[in-house]
Amino acid sequence: MTAKILTFANFKGGVGKTSTTALVSYNLAKMDYKCLVIDFDAQANITSLLLKTKSNNDGIITIDKTLMSALNENLNLKKIVINIATNLDLIPNAVDFSVYPRFLENSFDNEIDKVTFFDKKIAPLKEDYDFIFIDVPPTLSLLNDTAFYACDQIVVVLQTQERSLAGAEVFIQYLQETLINEFQSRVDILGILPVLSKKGARVDEEILKSAIEEFGEDNIFDKKISIMERIKRMDMQGITDDPKDMHDRNVNKVFAEVAQEVISRLNK
Ligand SMILES: Nc1ncnc2c1ncn2[C@@H]1O[C@H](COP(=O)(O)OP(=O)(O)O)[C@@H](O)[C@H]1O
Ligand SMILES: [Mg+2]
Repeated sequence: MTAKILTFANFKGGVGKTSTTALVSYNLAKMDYKCLVIDFDAQANITSLLLKTKSNNDGIITIDKTLMSALNENLNLKKIVINIATNLDLIPNAVDFSVYPRFLENSFDNEIDKVTFFDKKIAPLKEDYDFIFIDVPPTLSLLNDTAFYACDQIVVVLQTQERSLAGAEVFIQYLQETLINEFQSRVDILGILPVLSKKGARVDEEILKSAIEEFGEDNIFDKKISIMERIKRMDMQGITDDPKDMHDRNVNKVFAEVAQEVISRLNK
């Protein structure tokens, strides 16, 4: 096995990156792909979401070691993996990750050594998984450069609101100029995944149209994510997946289809 490493990213917060990462990996795991989610955000939203998902089955769980403590102690990251569900693992994060940029500055003199650090660090994990997802905070920074550099593919999450298209353009330009041109990263853009603001809203239609003109129809995911109230409830309750519950079924169906499209785009 050699994992494909992906991230759902944008440098805007609150656009659905974390929920999408959790639900796509959860549904890939259900399809029998081995998945690891690495929480790369000191806010630890995906750690909290996935630990709640696990505790729905296993009771309360606590974290022994965070990503930052493992990096400080130069541990093999396999040592801090937590199993969440069948085929789904997590490397947890916590607020101590806020020192990570300083850790990089203190550990290396050269820019390229800083940027490539995390890529080397996760290399041993690749043999254990089909997919590794890195859930990043919404910034353009050295911190995220180290995550993006480790990725094979980036899915740009585009919330179809005014001004978000310009944000996506800036983000893609940044990836091209900084990561690909300057640091020779292998990273590629798998596509742009729209998160719609409302069913049939005119602003969604208009932004989608402009996005097609700007990036080309082939680069936009066929599958779009709509706003579903059940996803908000999952912040509190973890991922719920009751086959008898219509809302759980709807949410998991949408993300299973996004997962399928990720696979078919990777195979293109
Ligand atoms: N498709 C969706 N429908 C409804 N609510 C969503 C959807 N995606 C995300 N949310 C909610 O929006 C908020 C921000 O989402 P999150 O995934 O944390 O975004 P980000 O990681 O980009 O900051 C959360 O409360 C989440 O539950
Ligand atoms: Mg997030």
